[in-house]
Amino acid sequence: MIRNWFKVASAEGSGDARSLLRHWILPITVFCVALGIVGVLVAASGVIPIKASSGHWAITRWFLQFSKERSVATHTLGLKAPPLDDRSLILKGAGHYEIGCRPCHGSPELHHPRIAHSMEPVPPYLPDTVTRWKPEELFYMVKHGIKFTGMPAWPAQQRDDEVWAVVAFLLAFPELDAEEYQQLVKGASRTTQQHESLTALEPGTSTIVVESCAPCHGLGGNGRELAAFPRIAGQRAEYTAESLKAYARGDRHSGIMEPIAAGISSERIQQLAQYYEQQKPASPAAARDRTTSAIERGQTIAHEGIPDKDVPACVDCHGPGETPRNRNYPLLAGQYAEYLTLQLTLFQQHQRGGTAYSHLMLRVSAGLNQQQIDDVAQYYSSLSSPVAR
Ligand code: HEC
Ligand code: HEC
Ligand code: HEC
Repeated sequence: MIRNWFKVASAEGSGDARSLLRHWILPITVFCVALGIVGVLVAASGVIPIKASSGHWAITRWFLQFSKERSVATHTLGLKAPPLDDRSLILKGAGHYEIGCRPCHGSPELHHPRIAHSMEPVPPYLPDTVTRWKPEELFYMVKHGIKFTGMPAWPAQQRDDEVWAVVAFLLAFPELDAEEYQQLVKGASRTTQQHESLTALEPGTSTIVVESCAPCHGLGGNGRELAAFPRIAGQRAEYTAESLKAYARGDRHSGIMEPIAAGISSERIQQLAQYYEQQKPASPAAARDRTTSAIERGQTIAHEGIPDKDVPACVDCHGPGETPRNRNYPLLAGQYAEYLTLQLTLFQQHQRGGTAYSHLMLRVSAGLNQQQIDDVAQYYSSLSSPVAR
């Protein structure tokens, strides 16, 4: 075959080129094959150290860093970051950072946690490095992880909004001192105030409420003022329990909630769900840009649906109304409008998933436009929860 190729090359090329090929192609090929064989033999002998404890040679470190920068730059061509200065987005990203990233990347109090410090490469303290990257590049690394380093990919590849929330936090991170960091990731929930209904719980479950859920959902399940985290106070226990199991199975997609739910036994999930149903929902949070006309338009959609778009009345499943509803259907009254809008948009884009009943929402959401989504979200967020039963 090589001989034929020489023939073609010599017919087209000059005499010089022909002799160049004759002289060099074969030796180079033989050299490369030999090098490959030697490489395999060296690896097979086991003498190459894979130990993290000795670190990389300077040239290997340079090469890996260089490849990372080039790869990230090329793969983010054309990617455009959404607005990232929203406080609620930063809060959401901060909550996740504390659980999912701090153990490797540290906090203002401890830049290099001891175990992560023994990794190769050592996960950097991010306030020192984030300014070197564009937001789109941070997004790419947080979403996809980095091979050969231990930097994991985002658990829920189906949706990008949560990853952008983490990027929003990373951009704000360099400005934070230790106290501001604590305030952002845990809020006032760190205060050891006792909640009456907590004492009725098994000690293990109350520890989960205080340590694992309160930093984001608040001790009583009412969230953290901004719409970063949904209200779960007063929600039907069946829906809450099934949602947590759906996260744990990966049927409902959230890089924030999936790892949390996966770590809780189904017995504890039942207890948590009961606890949150008993909590008193706070009076509805005023949605940003709330207007009476939007609430009225939303009310019409909720009570009558949109017949020509095949959208059923929401109240049939979500209330408010006198007749009891299926306890697997969530209450929406008093929920943050921005959260409702987000979930409806995720359903519409087939990125939501959920319990065994979640398919019901695919048809519903398909018939709504952006304005109708905003209106109906404003309507539900303006209701106080007890009305909904
Ligand atoms: C198991 C440990 C681990 C976890 C968990 C982890 N990372 Fe990393 N991360 C790493 C390592 C290791 C690197 C690679 C450092 C390198 O290439 O030099 C890295 C690199 C990065 C980089 C690139 C930094 C730079 O300047 O090169 C960013 C950004 C980043 N991680 C963000 C995050 C975020 C945000 C989270 C949480 C969602 C997270 N990481 C979770 C270990 C981890
Ligand atoms: C790091 C912040 C954070 C922590 C900690 C956290 N959550 Fe969440 N939770 C969220 C976010 C964000 C969502 C919305 C996710 C989505 O878009 O699906 C959510 C959603 C939920 C939902 C679904 C609400 C609904 O209306 O469908 C439930 C139930 C829930 N969380 C319960 C818990 C419980 C119980 C704990 C403690 C074991 C907990 N969460 C800990 C951030 C958190
Ligand atoms: C046939 C019953 C049914 C109708 C009608 C219905 N829904 Fe739903 N909806 C559900 C179910 C079931 C879920 C829970 C899905 C899951 O997570 O498994 C849900 C979930 C939701 C959620 C997410 C709530 C959360 O806490 O995450 C929103 C928002 C929502 N519906 C809005 C609406 C709106 C707006 C309408 C009317 C336009 C509507 N739904 C009509 C059954 C219905």
